[in-house]
Amino acid sequence: MSPGFVFILCAGSYTVKPIQFGFQIDMTKNFTTGNYTININEKGRPDTRHKYSIQFSESNSAHAIKHLKPCTDYEHNVAFIDGAGKETPRYCTNQINTTRTLGMNQGDIKGKKCMPGYVCYNSEWDISSSLSTPNNISAVTCKRDEKEICFKPRYNDICTDLTTTFTSGNCAKNINLHTSITADFLNPSEISKTIPTKLPAEIKTNLPPNCKHLNITYTCLEDGKPNELNLTDLEPYTNYNCTGQIMHNNVIINKTTAIQFRIDCDLTISILELSVTNNSIHLSWNTHSEKCGDVLSNLPKLSYECSCQPRSEEYRMNQTINAGNTGGSCTISRLEPYTKYECAVQPKYNKSNVAGVNKKTTRTKIGVPGRIQDLMLDLTQHNVIKATCKAPHTLNGPVESIRYIARLYIGGVLKYTLNETKCKFEFKDLSYSTNYSVEVTASYGGDESDIIEGSTSISFDNALIVRLVFFILTSLAFALVLYKIYTLRLRKSRNDENVDENEAIELTEIYENVSGPECRYRDTT
Ligand SMILES: *[C@@H]1O[C@H](CO)[C@@H](O)[C@H](O)[C@H]1NC(C)=O
Ligand SMILES: *[C@@H]1O[C@H](CO)[C@@H](O)[C@H](O)[C@H]1NC(C)=O
Repeated sequence: MSPGFVFILCAGSYTVKPIQFGFQIDMTKNFTTGNYTININEKGRPDTRHKYSIQFSESNSAHAIKHLKPCTDYEHNVAFIDGAGKETPRYCTNQINTTRTLGMNQGDIKGKKCMPGYVCYNSEWDISSSLSTPNNISAVTCKRDEKEICFKPRYNDICTDLTTTFTSGNCAKNINLHTSITADFLNPSEISKTIPTKLPAEIKTNLPPNCKHLNITYTCLEDGKPNELNLTDLEPYTNYNCTGQIMHNNVIINKTTAIQFRIDCDLTISILELSVTNNSIHLSWNTHSEKCGDVLSNLPKLSYECSCQPRSEEYRMNQTINAGNTGGSCTISRLEPYTKYECAVQPKYNKSNVAGVNKKTTRTKIGVPGRIQDLMLDLTQHNVIKATCKAPHTLNGPVESIRYIARLYIGGVLKYTLNETKCKFEFKDLSYSTNYSVEVTASYGGDESDIIEGSTSISFDNALIVRLVFFILTSLAFALVLYKIYTLRLRKSRNDENVDENEAIELTEIYENVSGPECRYRDTT
């Protein structure tokens, strides 16, 4: 550029001197007093242009422009702002319009605290493109001060020293800064922990692996209760809120982490033994649990309830078994014989049912039958007593295997004993005019039911008379019918040789009516 050319275009000239953090622009007296703009942009990048508005006067001719990038080439010019606000770039430097900034020194960068958990640096230089973070963590600017540039160390970097490198534009010399990432960088919400699923409860906390002096102690609160508990004191079936206090070299630091959980035991009840009598069921069981196995024998609030259905609550048995909760036994009594029951062992915690009930169905043993019903003694011929009865109301056993036992006493002395599957007995070859009594019981082969006794005071003679009278009366009726048939036939044969069919049917009916009592009589003899 020839000086003449410069003279024509430039109404004044300015010099640009690199200083720490930027440039100093000195304007010559050739400038007229007024408003100017200094335009600065990175070389070849008009998009990075910054405008600095200045007022030129003789006493204000030097202007420092800071916060530029170190060791970087900037283009610059100075423009006049006319009354209409229009910019006229007719002021020239006596140098070429590109100047390089100074290099950066280690002392130009200061470590700063901007956000917790972040490493921040501040400089009067524009270090936004100088920062080369460890492990290529992306950098952010601090909200409070855009001149501060920050990055968040990774979780595993906590309790290590990190080296941050700053490049210095076109200068080869890098600046390395070392930062101790102390435990202060730990954000407790980032601590991962495993929720305990077993008792005794254990919370595994992943503290940063390099923090050898950090540890964490948990204390827990039960919902709605004030007492602080250690993890080893926790019970199943309870909601807990636990707080982990982080300590550095066993000194409490101001960081805590929280966790909520509840452990329900996975109780598995195996019914081992089930012995039955005719009115009771005995159960024994053992309990297994993956989650609570280690503490099972140390849970005073764990209990079991035995019950057998169908029987109402009064037969329910509450048993609290404290010694060795890994099992237990119970006997349920006052049950009905020969009845199917579903018996259950229900685990309870703190008096409330918890999961794990086990049931078994069994039938109680055969008992003694109830007393027989409706004993009837029948005197048939003069030397036979027939006894019949109905099955007991309460069988207490299978109807197909019941036996009936009848005993005949003559004058209080046992004469005969009969044993039948049906309640139907015949005592034969008895002598006349004696007082007989019959006792009938039911049994399944063991004990016999309560005795039902029947006796007869009617002598055989009287019975015989009754029978004879009955026999005579029926015989007379029969003779009467025969006579009627005879007279009917006689009349018919006289009137008509053909027998009317209707009348034949009528006759058959009469005959059947007559034959009934006689047949029944024969049956009973
Ligand atoms: C500096 O000079 C170059 C070449 O003469 C020109 O292209 C550029 O626009 C100038 N820069 C400024 C900021 O005026
Ligand atoms: C059950 O059996 C016992 C012994 O055999 C007997 O004494 C008892 O009466 C029976 N109970 C019932 C209800 O059958």
